[in-house]
Amino acid sequence: MQTLMLSTEEIDKAAQIIREGGLVAMPTETVYGLAADAYNGKAVANIFRAKGRPMDNPLIVHIADISQIYGLVREFPEKARILADKFWPGPLTMILPKSERIPDEVSAGLDTVAVRCPSDPYARKLISLSSPLAAPSANLSGSPSPTTAHHVFSDMNGRIDAIIDGGECDVGVESTVITLAVQPPRLLRPGGITLEQLRGAIGEVVLDDAVLNPLKSGERAASPGMKYKHYAPQAELTLLKGSEESFLKFVNGMKDGKTAVLCYDEDIPRLELPFIPLGRAMDHDVQASRLFSALREADDKGFKRVYAHCPHTDGVGLAVYNRMIRAAGFKVIELDDKTS
Ligand code: TXA
Ligand code: MG
Repeated sequence: MQTLMLSTEEIDKAAQIIREGGLVAMPTETVYGLAADAYNGKAVANIFRAKGRPMDNPLIVHIADISQIYGLVREFPEKARILADKFWPGPLTMILPKSERIPDEVSAGLDTVAVRCPSDPYARKLISLSSPLAAPSANLSGSPSPTTAHHVFSDMNGRIDAIIDGGECDVGVESTVITLAVQPPRLLRPGGITLEQLRGAIGEVVLDDAVLNPLKSGERAASPGMKYKHYAPQAELTLLKGSEESFLKFVNGMKDGKTAVLCYDEDIPRLELPFIPLGRAMDHDVQASRLFSALREADDKGFKRVYAHCPHTDGVGLAVYNRMIRAAGFKVIELDDKTS
């Protein structure tokens, strides 16, 4: 299959591909999504094939307007309405009881559906010209999510019908996922809308254990995506916890030509080995927007080992931490641990 690269002027062509049951990668404000008509189970099944995604990992349905939600869900509770008013369009996904119309391929057999209203104008236009779109991130399953059309092309060329090149994504990590199908609501995946913002809007929100920790053996994931290895580069990523001094001492001892550092801007003058900057230490938004392309860059440059600071967990930092700890397979070295 030849994968077409489309400009943002050619969205009507992309919409036609969707209407005919094809697959189109679209920009969103978070990461690129691999879209199919959410009401076409056969087209949705092809998304799983193209990504190599396990069939038990459900997809998010993207809508352009709140009125489209009524075809998708059985209930739209008051708290969901408040969150939609406050944060849609934007990087927030809500899990709600699903309507009969949702094909099993979308919800992977669950009784719920994940819904999001993206703010990206090109995603919104594509939805308006076609239908609600089921779309996971447009990467091969397991690898870092794509934040440019070029990332999508390198994973998906020959596997999908088209890619809309809408430039670089703004947020850079996937949407916040909250389930309102349980009481109290539960944060399943942190993202651009923070836990603090959610609590400010609707009160109690529980932080699911799997956001910060690996699943215990035999434990069932509230969000099936959390049980799979994720976001991982080819290089072996390790996070380092400790003071700035011990961080620099540790990484500067690793000069072997095959090792790089994902660093903060403040580290740069004192680093003695190759580095990829993620932004300033406290600038979580910039770190989020650069993280996935930094992981891909480390692979493109052929590094075998990558070290990074263990991120702070406040605000959008929680999303950066959640992605990095998974990309590292939960490998963290405590540099200042006096007991070892
Ligand atoms: O920002 C985003 O959310 C991007 C863009 C393209 O919109 N999409 C995205 O999709 O990240 P994906 O498939 O890579 O991640 C969706 C996550 C998975 O962890 C999945 O298990 C979870 O949401 N999910 C989807 N439906 C669910 C449901 N009904 N119940 C629990 N978790 C669900
Ligand atoms: Mg994904």
